[in-house]
Amino acid sequence: MEMRFVSTGSYLPEQAVDNEYLSGIVDTSDEWISSRTGIRKRRITVGEGTACMAAKAAAKAVARADIDPLDIDIIIVATMSPDNFLPNTACEVQAEIGAMHAVCYDLSAACSGFVFALNTAYSFLKAGIYKTALIIGSEVLSKMIDWNERSTCVLFGDGAGAAIVQASETGLFESVLGSDGTRKNSLTCASRYIINPLVSQDSNSTDETALDYIKMDGQEVFKFVIKTIPLTIQQVMEKSCCTKEEIRYYVLHQANQRILESVSKKLKEPIEKFPMNLDKYGNTSAASIPILLDKMNKRNMLDRGDKIILSGFGGGLTWGTTLIEW
Ligand code: COA
Repeated sequence: MEMRFVSTGSYLPEQAVDNEYLSGIVDTSDEWISSRTGIRKRRITVGEGTACMAAKAAAKAVARADIDPLDIDIIIVATMSPDNFLPNTACEVQAEIGAMHAVCYDLSAACSGFVFALNTAYSFLKAGIYKTALIIGSEVLSKMIDWNERSTCVLFGDGAGAAIVQASETGLFESVLGSDGTRKNSLTCASRYIINPLVSQDSNSTDETALDYIKMDGQEVFKFVIKTIPLTIQQVMEKSCCTKEEIRYYVLHQANQRILESVSKKLKEPIEKFPMNLDKYGNTSAASIPILLDKMNKRNMLDRGDKIILSGFGGGLTWGTTLIEW
């Protein structure tokens, strides 16, 4: 069995925050942010959480697929910013859209999350275990950002994207996925600390138990991405015996315009084959690839049979590049 994309959906919160607004909060400028990253605006939620946005994106994908939600076998939500430890985001989506026959769980792989979720779904479909999967990337990164820290607060945004994929007789799917935990400190955001009756309060200083925010070694991440991603793209092309000329688009995680330009140069592929919307939405982590796919789908940029390379990369470190046939 192979897999095909049936539909997509996305949801972005209403509130747009531009670079001018941020320069009123921290010592930055539109010139710095747009020239270093390509980002001009991002959407920031003022109330809707990760599950709420995920369910809204999912509902659009379900409506466009014209399927009964009861036919969905599995829901995977890729997120690093769930609303709760319990229940998981996918169960909340299930209840919201009425997909009561689905098995539901979340997957945490930072900005590689959607590609990892797609590969997990593909494995179930390929093995004949499930027929229909709903995969979602949804993030509320605005709650994980230190809004006094100019090096990170200008980069991220909130949003959700979803796709429905189904088992199919035909299709193409090749992947190169990887992780390097030895470089875990390049991108971090601590969660809860160990506090229980066996650990005295005194041994946790105030600093250690304070809320943590996203910290990033920007240059380290930049160097990792522009070295690793072109390599993995070449590897999936070799594995699938596809030439560059056969690839219609490279849909990369929307982290930074300079990263995309560098990958395009390294591959000697025109930048026009690298669709972008990071200028409007910033870096939405696991949501960026499905949001972009949905925008492309709505603009009729995707035709059946198109060969597309998806590539996500980020904290962990993690990376995943997958060649699909639309
Ligand atoms: N506005 C103005 N100045 C800023 C700034 C901001 N928002 N953020 C940082 N700076 C300053 C720094 O303080 C530093 O000043 P200094 O030279 O006086 O010390 C200077 O700009 C250069 O900082 P640096 O971090 O070296 O900038 P950079 O060219 O590496 O660009 C990133 C920073 C984050 C844009 C870049 O490293 C990057 O895009 N990295 C990849 C990050 C990424 O995509 N992560 C997500 C992957 S999932």
